Amino acid sequence: MEENVKRKFNEIRKSVEEYINNYVKVLYPEKIYESMRYSLLAGGKRLRPVMAIESASLFNVPFENIIPSACAIEMLHCQSLIHDDLPCMDNDDFRRGKPSNHKVYGEAIATLAGDALLSYAPKLIIDKTPKTVDSEIIIKILNEYFIAAGVDGIISGQVVDIESENKTITAEILNYLHEYKTARLFKLAVRIGAIMGKAEKNILNALTEYAGLYGHAFQIYDDILDATATLEQLGKTPGKDANSGKSTYVTMYGLAEAKKQTLFLCNKAYDILKENRINSKILHGVLVDISEGISKCS
Ligand code: IPE
Ligand code: IPE
Ligand code: MG
Ligand code: MG
Ligand code: MG
Repeated sequence: MEENVKRKFNEIRKSVEEYINNYVKVLYPEKIYESMRYSLLAGGKRLRPVMAIESASLFNVPFENIIPSACAIEMLHCQSLIHDDLPCMDNDDFRRGKPSNHKVYGEAIATLAGDALLSYAPKLIIDKTPKTVDSEIIIKILNEYFIAAGVDGIISGQVVDIESENKTITAEILNYLHEYKTARLFKLAVRIGAIMGKAEKNILNALTEYAGLYGHAFQIYDDILDATATLEQLGKTPGKDANSGKSTYVTMYGLAEAKKQTLFLCNKAYDILKENRINSKILHGVLVDISEGISKCS
């Protein structure tokens, strides 16, 4: 990503963190709020909220209208990570360079912190979105949130991911799990921005297609990093996918093919932006980050 685009990205990221910090105060019983805050404020790239805000800005949506929904997406993402790291799921002791939530707060509180975030997020959209935003739009956004968060979204992706361990799966199943566990959340991000901006259907569809391609590329890149990066670079345990018998693009087709596929998907996503005249340096820049990142992996 170019320096000036990165600067803009980081500015948005910083305000997302400030808003999250203000939205989630520690109340009684403190433990659960502390556990939620631990994961919410542990770092992370904040890709999804930044992409939601960027998508909204394409339609001149005021920042204060989109920020509650953007933070809600990050909360949903953090929930998925807390649960993903639990011993009954991927059993990872590290996340974002720190001990995973359950390593600090125990499995019971970590599970409950994930549950809490899942409902805290849509409540935030209802409570904090300015009253000037049509309630019809808020209902549409909540509907998108509930689909992505539920059994029509991440949950089914995670189920298929777990069920595909130590098994030979088809390309269709691999595609399914990438779509549901990862791409749907990126789609949610850009769609929420576009819905808030009352985007026309063709642009909403184009952004959705872009985010789908980006999401698939993102997950394959994550799987490539799992196979090639160090704990310091990743902030999470490397080599986990192969060790747990995960079915990923890398374990199924090898590193070279996985890199090729990632670049192919990124190029298709660039084309969608270009064909639809979606002039967003950030949506372009996140693709550049993956394309450039791929070339450094070996
Ligand atoms: C990790 O997502 C989970 C995947 C979908 C691979 P990120 O890589 O965006 O995680 P953070 O938020 O930056 O830690
Ligand atoms: C991400 O898949 C799935 C989620 C929805 C959290 P991974 O299991 O590969 O994510 P990491 O590598 O633990 O971040
Ligand atoms: Mg997982
Ligand atoms: Mg994992
Ligand atoms: Mg991974």
